[in-house]
This record gives sequence, C-alpha cells and structure tokens, in this order.
Amino acid sequence: MKDRVVSGYRPSGRLHLGHYHGNLNNMIRLQDTHECFFFVADWHALTTGYRDTSRLGEWTTEMVLDWLAAGIDPGRCTIYRQSDISGIPELVLYLGMVITLGELERNPTYKEQLRELDSRVVNTYGFLGYPVLMATDILAVDAELVPVGEDQLPHLELTREIARDFNSLYGDTFPEPQPILSTAPKIAGTDGRKMSKSYANYIGIDEEPGQIHKKVRKMITDPARMRRDDKGHPEVCSVYTLYRVYFPDELDRVADECSQASIGCTDCKDRLSEKIAADLAPFREKRAELAKKPQVVGEILAAGAERVNPVVDASLQRARRAMNIGTL
Ligand code: TRP
Ligand code: SF4
Repeated sequence: MKDRVVSGYRPSGRLHLGHYHGNLNNMIRLQDTHECFFFVADWHALTTGYRDTSRLGEWTTEMVLDWLAAGIDPGRCTIYRQSDISGIPELVLYLGMVITLGELERNPTYKEQLRELDSRVVNTYGFLGYPVLMATDILAVDAELVPVGEDQLPHLELTREIARDFNSLYGDTFPEPQPILSTAPKIAGTDGRKMSKSYANYIGIDEEPGQIHKKVRKMITDPARMRRDDKGHPEVCSVYTLYRVYFPDELDRVADECSQASIGCTDCKDRLSEKIAADLAPFREKRAELAKKPQVVGEILAAGAERVNPVVDASLQRARRAMNIGTL
C-alpha cells in the first residue's frame, strides 16, 4: 500500500504562480509515488467568502480545469469536492469538541487574516473554526502526508494536536499526518506581499503574455532604485524573488547587474516576463483546450466522490465507536 496524500484548494479564483511554485508542483510529482487525494475545498471558501457565494460553482470548474492543465491527472489521483463528502460535517462536529478556543485563537494565520482582511466579515465562528474543518479533511481520509504551502503549517500542527487529543481521550483512532513543504523559494506578488488570491496581486498560470508583461512591469522593486543609475539591492526586490524560480542558474549575474546598476529595472522585468510567458505557454494551450469541454469536471468530481465517501464513512464510524456515539 502506498502512503496516502491529501491536499485541498479553495475555489476562490484562478490558480497563480504562487500556487504552482509553492505546492502544486509537489502535488503533481506525488501522483507517481503516492495514493493522492486532491479536493476542492468549497466549504473552506465559505469561511472568508460566505457573503457572496454566487460564483462558487464557476470557480470550482475553473480551478479543476487549471489543475488538469497543470498536470493533476484523474487517472493517477482522486479529485473530489469537499461538499460532496457527506461524512465531513459530522466529523467536524466531533473534532471540534476536543480543541480549545485558545488553540484556535493562537493560530498565526487566523491572527494575520483578521488583520489583513475585513475583520467585521471574518470575525465569525466559521472562520475561527477553519482549522477544525481542515483537520477533518485530513484525518477523515487517514492521510499520512499533506503537501501544503508554508502558510498552512500552523493548521497542520493543529491537525496533529487534534489527532493526539482525540486519540488520548478515546483511544487510537487517527494517524498524525506530516506536512510536505515545497523547497522552492517563496515568490512575491506584484505589490510585494505574498502572492495571494485575497490580495489580488497575482500572476495567473494561464495569463496572456501581454498581461504578464503588464503585471511584471508594475511590480514593486527596490525602493532605493529611483533612477536608472541608482544601485539596487536584489534581496529586497519582489522581481528578484521570481528570478530565483525562473533563472536559478543566473542569479549571481542578475544580482551583480542590479547592484552595479548595469541593468535597469525595466529591462530586468522584461527579461523575466518573457521567460514566464514562455514557461506558461504549454499550460495556456492545454487550458484553452480544456475550456471547450468543462463538463469533464462534473464527471471527474462524481467519480471522486464515489471513491472518497466510503473512505470517510469508515473513519467516521471509527470515531463514533471510539466516542460511544450511537450505541446503547
Ligand atoms: N487551508 C487550505 C488553503 O486555504 C486548503 C485546505 C483545506 C487544505 N483543507 C485542507 C489543504 C486539507 C491541505 C489539506 O489553501
Ligand atoms: Fe529588482 Fe531587477 Fe530592478 Fe534589481 S534591476 S531592483 S532585481 S527589478
């Protein structure tokens, strides 16, 4: 039996370079060596986006098509949608019993998002309880490994704590999962913050060359380089974070050119956007092909649900038995 891997993405927009280099490439790789469960986390999308749910279906389709174009292959993994898995909410209820409010409130992602997003909107029970839902996704399928971006590590630690607490109260029920982190350097969004859907600072993975060019041109660089002959500091430049991924072999040269002002930011950016556009070309083509038959998504999700529901039902039954629920 291969180790089981699970990972989920919220359907809240198109996939971008941050996803691709942060985690998606790991997911693609793991399909060859592990039993992979990849799901659309539509309930998670509600935790911050519950006010306007009108595009959830559309975004689910778009995201799965992005996955397929990037190389997530339903022949080698199981793709499903969280809300098609009927056992999840009941398990959320049980796991929510054992985690304390303190543990949830200490979660750094929670604190960060409260600061960054509109706190009147996200100051909800659902948002605070988000890690319980995530823990459920993972424990419900007995996953050993969870490829995630670094921002998700605290959630994974909470998942492990929940599993430990549950196991110590009711007996061994859930394995403790381990994260798999990307080794790729983090890339910045166009505004210098982490590339993220919620910050609208991203480059999509099927973006047109013209769009890529425009976005990269707008990127924040070293603030000390006001004029063409000011010497730059690549280590503080957002553009340079992308160089780390796209030109790993030429980093020293670019750093020298920047710090000696022998290259201007405009040229530096254009060189980068050309490379990104070329790299994304095959993806863009495949994505355009897939867009002609979006109905495959429904078929893929239905097949996925059929496979995953029995797996989740089995762990739910285990949890119920352990907690003496439904017995006389
Ligand atoms: N929390 C993840 C995110 O926001 C999505 C997610 C939900 C997830 N459940 C998961 C990731 C389980 C890995 C495993 O991107
Ligand atoms: Fe950034 Fe390149 Fe400008 Fe240096 S030359 S500051 S690395 S964009």
